[in-house]
Amino acid sequence: MAKVKTAFFCQNCGAQAPQWVGKCSSCNEWNTLVEEVLEKSNKAKIPFSSNSDKRAVKPQKIDEITHYKEDRIALSDGELNRVLGGGIVPGSLILFGGEPGIGKSTLLLQTALKQPKLKVLYISGEESEQQISMRADRIGKKEANCYVLTETSTTNIFRQVDDIKPDLLIIDSIQTLHTPSIESSPGSISQVRECTAEILQFAKQTATPVFLIGHITKEGGIAGPKVLEHMVDAVLQFEGDRNHLYRLLRTTKNRFGSTNELGIYEMTGTGLREVENPSEILISGNTENLSGISIASTIEGIRPMLIEVQALVSTAAYGTPQRSSTGFDLRRMNMLLAVLEKRCGFKLGAKDVFLNIAGGIKVDDPAIDLAVVSAIMSSNADIPIGSKVSLAAEIGLSGEIRPVNRVDQRIHEAQKLGFEKIIISKSNTGIKPENYDIEVIKCGKIEEVVQNIFG
Ligand code: TYD
Ligand code: MG
Repeated sequence: MAKVKTAFFCQNCGAQAPQWVGKCSSCNEWNTLVEEVLEKSNKAKIPFSSNSDKRAVKPQKIDEITHYKEDRIALSDGELNRVLGGGIVPGSLILFGGEPGIGKSTLLLQTALKQPKLKVLYISGEESEQQISMRADRIGKKEANCYVLTETSTTNIFRQVDDIKPDLLIIDSIQTLHTPSIESSPGSISQVRECTAEILQFAKQTATPVFLIGHITKEGGIAGPKVLEHMVDAVLQFEGDRNHLYRLLRTTKNRFGSTNELGIYEMTGTGLREVENPSEILISGNTENLSGISIASTIEGIRPMLIEVQALVSTAAYGTPQRSSTGFDLRRMNMLLAVLEKRCGFKLGAKDVFLNIAGGIKVDDPAIDLAVVSAIMSSNADIPIGSKVSLAAEIGLSGEIRPVNRVDQRIHEAQKLGFEKIIISKSNTGIKPENYDIEVIKCGKIEEVVQNIFG
């Protein structure tokens, strides 16, 4: 019997090594090499690739190349269109990543069901036809022109695709596919890479757009080599807290549009609902005027939204005070606490501090700093901040209020939602308070903010 040929593949970067080593020589990650069986010699023939070999490929002048520039396919889902830069480009391969249970299958199935003009083929390697049909019933499949196939072998998939000739192909998920040209098990690096290469070739040759669902590793990257992200045209990430209603759809790569766009959805009993005006749901209104609540005017991608920050400061019951934060970087919160302690004289060293961003959303925008600090001060002193005050500034290590980008948009968003005051940095020089209907207050130090919001 012939010896089975194997090689070792790095699960992080996809590099190949002839033998096992502890550290990948290409990306320097430790313990990422896994043994996989190498390919069989006789590669299976893929049905669609019939004419590619015959045509001699010659360089073409760039202005003579025909392309599909303007005919983007608009989907019925406005958020998805926005994130993709105005619809799907024919022949593009879009990788759709997210944690298990976040709603990837739901979103793409519901997109498939709501395209009466497009023939969609939804291929699932994870659920049976019955399960998909049950889910489709929940979402509502009135106008659907959608075919479902449960299959994991790429050869069979391409055979069916050749028959049906869909306008849009959805594959759930890349980790369940396997190609007969390689012997290692589904989900392994070489399988994932080879299957993606076949699908990519199919997408480019037939100009069919393809959505590829990808699982996410513990570290939050898409499972499989980084190579995968290089191969595809766009990478979308679906994120959010599974126990909360809201989901954010971000682009981390897009060859046909900007990566600044953000889509927002709400998980309901009948699928995902597009959220057009996020600010209205993310702030509760603080009708009872409680202390420890502040409103930040943040920007996610290029969308301004107002977010509620909640803090609870109490005397530590045990020796070591507890610090906990949801939706905001804990290290940054500790830094802000140190600034409050050292520069502003607040004695927080013996206090428990809990911080929460409402709606289960994670915020990276530095403009939320001032709202975090204000919520903490408000809870510590037990004095509420008026519910009509919003904040947008970063805090520096010496306690200075630093300017943030796109302040004009932030002010407009607060004004639109009926806020009466917004506090920004005095170094945001381009802003003229008299141009707005909302009171724009410029501050340089935390003490000035304290004066303004607590009087
Ligand atoms: P799913 O799309 O299966 O997640 P993924 O494919 O990313 O693993 O979604 C799973 C969750 O969505 C599941 O826990 C139930 C919830 N859900 C709803 O709340 N409402 C719905 O209408 C549907 C279809 C799912
Ligand atoms: Mg799924």
